[in-house]
Amino acid sequence: MLYWLYNRLALMLRTRIKSIAHYVPEQIVTNDYLTKYMDTSDEWIRERTGIEERRYADKHNETTSTMGARAAEKAIAEAGITKEDVDFIIFATLSPDYYFPGCGVLLQRELGITEMEVGALDIRNQCSGFVYGLSIADKFIRTGTYKNILLVGAEMHSMGLDFSTEGRGVTVIFGDGAGACILQPTEDENRGILTTHLHANGTHAEELAMINPGSHGGYYLGKEKYGYPDESVPGGIFVTQKMVDDNLLAGNMTGQLVFKTAVTKFPAVIKEALKATGYKSSDIDLLIPHQANLRISAFVQKRLELRDDQVFSNIQKYGNTTAASIPIAMSEAFEQGKIKDRDLICIAAFGSGFTWGSALIRW
Ligand SMILES: CC(C)(COP(=O)(O)OP(=O)(O)OC[C@H]1O[C@@H](n2cnc3c(N)ncnc32)[C@H](O)[C@@H]1OP(=O)(O)O)[C@@H](O)C(=O)NCCC(=O)NCCS
Repeated sequence: MLYWLYNRLALMLRTRIKSIAHYVPEQIVTNDYLTKYMDTSDEWIRERTGIEERRYADKHNETTSTMGARAAEKAIAEAGITKEDVDFIIFATLSPDYYFPGCGVLLQRELGITEMEVGALDIRNQCSGFVYGLSIADKFIRTGTYKNILLVGAEMHSMGLDFSTEGRGVTVIFGDGAGACILQPTEDENRGILTTHLHANGTHAEELAMINPGSHGGYYLGKEKYGYPDESVPGGIFVTQKMVDDNLLAGNMTGQLVFKTAVTKFPAVIKEALKATGYKSSDIDLLIPHQANLRISAFVQKRLELRDDQVFSNIQKYGNTTAASIPIAMSEAFEQGKIKDRDLICIAAFGSGFTWGSALIRW
């Protein structure tokens, strides 16, 4: 009986993005500025990635959660609700304030709504975090569980980058920022989230990763590389001296593998969403891809035969902000009038894991 009722509700309700907002820190870091710390050039970065500048948070006064909270406050105001109306929080990030607890509870506290004791879920799906979060929120809304879900994607990469030449392949790509949206039910069957598609393949988990600190103890990649766990105690230690000495505490990326995989998975998962809904790529009013690299987006655009005005890019200004990149881009596109009522919006992401996903939304 309950199952039947859930199914009926799920058919009747759709999930609508009621508001979308973003926050980026003030500090602009240009490509030229990075040349002070590492052997790189504005020309190399622009040519390979399209990135011209990125933002870095104020490391003394901002965190991933506080940036998320600033974006959330705007989204809440624009949705015409109060903070107390939020009945569930989903927070996607790969650069959390703490190893645990996750950013969801910190955001709840920063917003001053701890008394409500609403649930807070943390998503660890890196660049696809927002798409995964959206898909989960959609299920909660469509089953009638929640009415005002706050979904946040935020990153403070600047605290975990290697600013030496050794780290340049990763460091020049990433930036800080946050995006947030309020998701609500609608009974209008012709609007809202139409479909979501999630995928993962862990074969290359370490090829785009920050593997330390962690509980692996060298299990996957060899103990010699990471330092043996301390044998004088029954357990281990997350960070060994060898990891510190050998500079193994930053993210690593096999750029070309990521690139080659991304340019096949992005079009495939977008086509999957189109097939599920009966639309063609020409029906998409705006594709908002995760802002990984301008060349990846250009590749996807070509593969799907999309016009320039059908694809949104702002990586030039912010770099890759991982879980924050789609909501920041969506918020800017909305502000610029590039998302209009009833437009067909497609979002798609690919990243570490590897994980990837897509969603089609009738705005
Ligand atoms: C990272 C990426 C831009 C590198 O571009 P690439 O053309 O593959 O470059 P390579 O890694 O082959 O490196 C080419 C050379 O540039 C050098 N290089 C790498 N980073 C550099 C930098 N920031 N500045 C200058 N030179 C750099 C390399 O050391 C290498 O030098 P070598 O030929 O002397 O060994 C590209 O692989 C990419 O965009 N990958 C996908 C990344 C991505 O989207 N990540 C996020 C996924 S969510």
